[in-house]
Amino acid sequence: MSLPPLLEHDADPDPIAQFSRWYAEVEAAGQAEPTVMTLATATPEGVPSARMVLLKHAGPDGFDFYTNYDSRKAAELAANPRVALVFWWERLRRQVRVEGMVVRLPSAASAAYFATRPRGSRIGAWASPQSRVLAGRAELERRVAEIEQRFAGQDVPLPPFWGGYRVHPWIMEFWQERGDRLHDRLRYRREGDGWVMERLAP
Ligand SMILES: Cc1cc2nc3c(=O)[nH]c(=O)nc-3n(C[C@H](O)[C@H](O)[C@H](O)COP(=O)(O)O)c2cc1C
Repeated sequence: MSLPPLLEHDADPDPIAQFSRWYAEVEAAGQAEPTVMTLATATPEGVPSARMVLLKHAGPDGFDFYTNYDSRKAAELAANPRVALVFWWERLRRQVRVEGMVVRLPSAASAAYFATRPRGSRIGAWASPQSRVLAGRAELERRVAEIEQRFAGQDVPLPPFWGGYRVHPWIMEFWQERGDRLHDRLRYRREGDGWVMERLAP
């Protein structure tokens, strides 16, 4: 497949709009699981950790994901809200990097999203003390059975320890594979109310 270049005059001056354009293109190209992204956090001492999460919304205000507010990542975010995200879209050989700061979504927004999840996932969210050590798989299954009993015949509400974060970006980089390792890299960084776009060496 011949890959389209990424050129300054074609790129949208707004990186979120550019993200939406690339996202639509990779989706149309049949990219499997385009919402999968790596989320990197760090302790205040600068010890990094990374894991994958799912992008649930991208818009002018940022990038949203959902998780357990008692998890390791949440503890790191409470102490240091700076994050990095990475998307790899193999189908069109594209990488997108995002750096920014997280804020928690209001619980009404988390509740609205939680309500769209299948019942089994909602039970799982209640039952799993994410990132904690378990005595074994049986402990998790016992917790699931308890939660199923607790909410039998009822709706499963938003757990108080679960919800979303929004990443407000200050740097975004679009990387397009090209021949001979001479890839295109356009980086946007916030300056005042706008964005400055710069080409980086591959
Ligand atoms: C493809 C993929 C998608 C995932 N999506 C999420 C997600 O949206 N939210 C989440 O909390 N964990 C998600 N996970 C699990 C996380 O990678 C991780 O195991 C979990 O959040 C605990 O991370 P922590 O202990 O660093 O907090 C996903 C894992 C994979 C492989």
